[in-house]
Amino acid sequence: MAKIIGFSGSTVKSGVVEKAMEQILKSTGQEWELIILSNLNMKYCTGCVGCAHTNRCVLKDDINELLGKIEDADGILIGGLARFGKLNGLTKVFIERMFPLFHNNILKGKLVASVAGGLFDQQTVKEELSSVFQAYKMKEVGALSIGGNASCYKCGKGETCGNSAFRAKFGDDAKITKDVFYVFDKDKEAVERATMLGKKIAEVISLKA
Ligand SMILES: Cc1cc2nc3c(=O)[nH]c(=O)nc-3n(C[C@H](O)[C@H](O)[C@H](O)COP(=O)(O)O)c2cc1C
Repeated sequence: MAKIIGFSGSTVKSGVVEKAMEQILKSTGQEWELIILSNLNMKYCTGCVGCAHTNRCVLKDDINELLGKIEDADGILIGGLARFGKLNGLTKVFIERMFPLFHNNILKGKLVASVAGGLFDQQTVKEELSSVFQAYKMKEVGALSIGGNASCYKCGKGETCGNSAFRAKFGDDAKITKDVFYVFDKDKEAVERATMLGKKIAEVISLKA
């Protein structure tokens, strides 16, 4: 059986990105694991390039175990979301920390797919991830863009605050009801796209074997 590892860079516990990633991974029908990066200890890349010969990072944190998992995997899935119009920080830190595997072309041709979550900026997130995959010479199999929820839906001031993402999305007169929340499992079309992406990942892996 092939092995596919997902890395969620979402900091929202059991949020949309995690749910969509689970659906994709399940749909591969292969052995899979979903790693929640926010549960781990991950420092920032210092750019020391101490990894050039070893393909492992000199920093003492959880990244080297993840690098081993990436090397062993037949394919990986990376999930991120939008913050201030761009890819969120944790996901960015993780993809920078994949740098040790860039040397000696370890990442070259590695199958990768992405999940891009957001209220407005999923497309930008998807493109940012895609450009990193290209830089790393990975083989991108596909990407899933999905909706998300803003903290403003729940803070208590979402209908009145001048900075409300809820008002930006639904207009100044809209009311916050349970219907405004984006729930991945209820978005049949998104679940279907996630399922198709999972199957596509499995198919591309089987063609490579
Ligand atoms: C501080 C902050 C900034 C955000 N900025 C954006 C943004 O610029 N564009 C956007 O599409 N979504 C933005 N979001 C929404 C997140 O992308 C959203 O949390 C994500 O889609 C995940 O959805 P979930 O929280 O339901 O899992 C922001 C959320 C927070 C907390």
